Amino acid sequence: MKIGIPKEIKPYEYRVACDPNGVKEIVNKGHKVLVERNAGIGSGFTDEDYKAQGAEIIDTAREIFAKSDLIYKVKEIFPEEFAYMREGQIIFTYIHSNAHREQTDAMIEKKIIGIAYEDVDDKDGEFPLLKPMSIIAGKGGFLAALNFMQKIYGGNGILLSKIDGIRTPEITIIGAGNSGVGAAELASAFGNKVTVLDIDVNKLEAARKVLPPNVEFLYSNRNNLEMCLKRTDVLMNCILWPKWRKDHLVSKDMLTIMKNRALIVDIACDEGGAIETCKSTTHDDPIYEVNGIIHYCVDNIPSAFSQTATQTLCNATLPYLLEIADKGVEKALKDNKYLRRGLSFYNGKLTLKETGRKQERPYITPEEALGI
Ligand SMILES: NC(=O)c1ccc[n+]([C@@H]2O[C@H](COP(=O)([O-])OP(=O)(O)OC[C@H]3O[C@@H](n4cnc5c(N)ncnc54)[C@H](O)[C@@H]3O)[C@@H](O)[C@H]2O)c1
Repeated sequence: MKIGIPKEIKPYEYRVACDPNGVKEIVNKGHKVLVERNAGIGSGFTDEDYKAQGAEIIDTAREIFAKSDLIYKVKEIFPEEFAYMREGQIIFTYIHSNAHREQTDAMIEKKIIGIAYEDVDDKDGEFPLLKPMSIIAGKGGFLAALNFMQKIYGGNGILLSKIDGIRTPEITIIGAGNSGVGAAELASAFGNKVTVLDIDVNKLEAARKVLPPNVEFLYSNRNNLEMCLKRTDVLMNCILWPKWRKDHLVSKDMLTIMKNRALIVDIACDEGGAIETCKSTTHDDPIYEVNGIIHYCVDNIPSAFSQTATQTLCNATLPYLLEIADKGVEKALKDNKYLRRGLSFYNGKLTLKETGRKQERPYITPEEALGI
């Protein structure tokens, strides 16, 4: 199969779908890999690095799309790329079709076979192609807190570390999932007093087993949350907030009980979601203030750690990519029900229920599309 790896065009997106090690694995299986010129530069990989592992370097995205059976990407397809897509082409990337109506139109019209990373799950009901990015976002979110607590970057001048003779900084993390545990790992390693809240006691128990004694675990209820809000220096929101919920966990009014110039790091970044005052920000303008509380709400934290993120994303996606390339997409989808859950488009039909409902469009199941 011919696998095409275009350069990502989203602003501040420095990741690329595959690192040179991944290219070697694909080439060794007898497939051809086409990489757009400079596609890996943002992650620290040169064209020569890719060529050395057997890739062919191609000048433009247009040519990559024209020559490839499968497009291996990170972010969704942007309007300037719609015209490049070819009927029957396989697109394997984060698609988020429910949030991008125009892209959904284009994928249906072009009869694309679209498989979305974010919907591929596993036997435990987890999302293995989201997990590595969440862990990086949690860790990166703590590093952002370390930065934006500094006076010179607009913070209140607290060093988020245990220092002899003075009060140890307090960090509250809501959500003991992938990003929450990632954040807690670094925050606790710096010696901070860390509190992790979750509504799922199994998640709290699992987190307790991997985190050190300076982390406390609390059930997430209103009283515990308010107690934490009053004393915390940093609040990190690491929960997956259902899109349909109209209420908030931390309302604008509740900011008044927090310490002046405390910092909220909203990893989940659901605008008007768990944190009412959250609005997405970018790496070049990451913070803003509401009622004396600093907010950091960057929605693509992993991009700041592009080399690490590219490598871990590639490690996670590569086994699925190889299954598709080795077996052919139809057989791979029929054989692997977890991969099949990611099927969003097939031969001009939408196959993702969530997008069908949200955009009020007709949809069929992946099984119906594949005739199984
Ligand atoms: N900003 C970024 O760059 C970035 C990058 C990756 C992921 N994310 C986002 O981070 C969020 C978290 O992802 P994750 O993989 O860590 O999710 P996860 O599913 O692993 O963990 C979420 C946790 O939140 C808990 N939870 C749910 N409701 C709660 C409540 N009311 N109080 C306390 N805990 C509650 C769940 O029990 C679960 O343990 C997602 O929205 C994801 O899209 C953001």
